[in-house]
Amino acid sequence: MTTALITGASAGIGAAFAQQLAARRTDLVLVARSQDKLEALASSLSHQYQIQADIVVQDLAAAEATETLFQSVQQLGRSIDLLVNNVGIGDYGDFAESDRDLQLKMVQLNIATTVDLTHRFLPGMRQRRAGGVINLSSVAAFQAMPYFSMYAATKAFILSFSEALWAENRSYGVHVLAVCPGPADSKFFKKAGFPPFLVDVAAKVDTPVETVVRDALQAFDKRESIVIPGSPINPILATLPRLLPREAVSSFWKLVLGHDKQ
Ligand SMILES: NC(=O)c1ccc[n+]([C@@H]2O[C@H](COP(=O)([O-])OP(=O)(O)OC[C@H]3O[C@@H](n4cnc5c(N)ncnc54)[C@H](OP(=O)(O)O)[C@@H]3O)[C@@H](O)[C@H]2O)c1
Repeated sequence: MTTALITGASAGIGAAFAQQLAARRTDLVLVARSQDKLEALASSLSHQYQIQADIVVQDLAAAEATETLFQSVQQLGRSIDLLVNNVGIGDYGDFAESDRDLQLKMVQLNIATTVDLTHRFLPGMRQRRAGGVINLSSVAAFQAMPYFSMYAATKAFILSFSEALWAENRSYGVHVLAVCPGPADSKFFKKAGFPPFLVDVAAKVDTPVETVVRDALQAFDKRESIVIPGSPINPILATLPRLLPREAVSSFWKLVLGHDKQ
């Protein structure tokens, strides 16, 4: 039996990873802040699939959060075969007028937590010459996004980081995958403060979280370095910016995301 650690496992894409990995008879360590949701998910999956599902209630933006999480995993006596770096937040709006603490929290959750946990768990996988890391990037990684600037930049980091680690670790039998979804049917856009008009636009083209995870796990099985799950519009969103002038792409997204600004 293998064990997967999933950050941001209480909702959305993280909870869908928990569901589908449990169906593959993978033991789980589920991490998020909402104890009630984690307990309900762990209890239902362990009964349904006869797996071991532990929870770690942890605010990953807190100081020393990754060290505390690493120690919790050791206390549980778990060796992590699959690390799913899923936790992530967004913040819609003009960067100059944004909450600086929230911008830095985004860097912490979207980038630093992934770097730190990957660095902690990768050596064990290499020693066992098995396992892997699934990192949640986004189609936002392929373009600058005015009014969603920090988020897109964090996801560009994750994509670059993951592709490099895919190549570095192949010969050790350890697989690293970047997952680049377009809009998915979670609460992400509302939590990120998008105006209702844009939440509605996203909902029209969104992909079910179950499909995101199904495509991600299939790509992981095939040892691919990157997957753009779901709707056919997503590969277009990822590819077109490579063919167009960069300023045209940034100006396009300014029009779309900043439709009610200036
Ligand atoms: N949804 C999309 O359209 C979309 C598209 C592309 C990429 N992605 C990426 O996919 C990942 C998952 O997104 P999602 O849509 O599933 O988001 P979501 O529905 O908002 O879920 C976020 C998860 O992260 C947890 N979380 C948030 N802040 C946390 C903190 N400080 N400490 C610990 N856990 C925290 C939440 O649980 P608690 O509140 O219980 O802590 C929840 O389980 C993110 O990295 C996101 O950037 C999403």
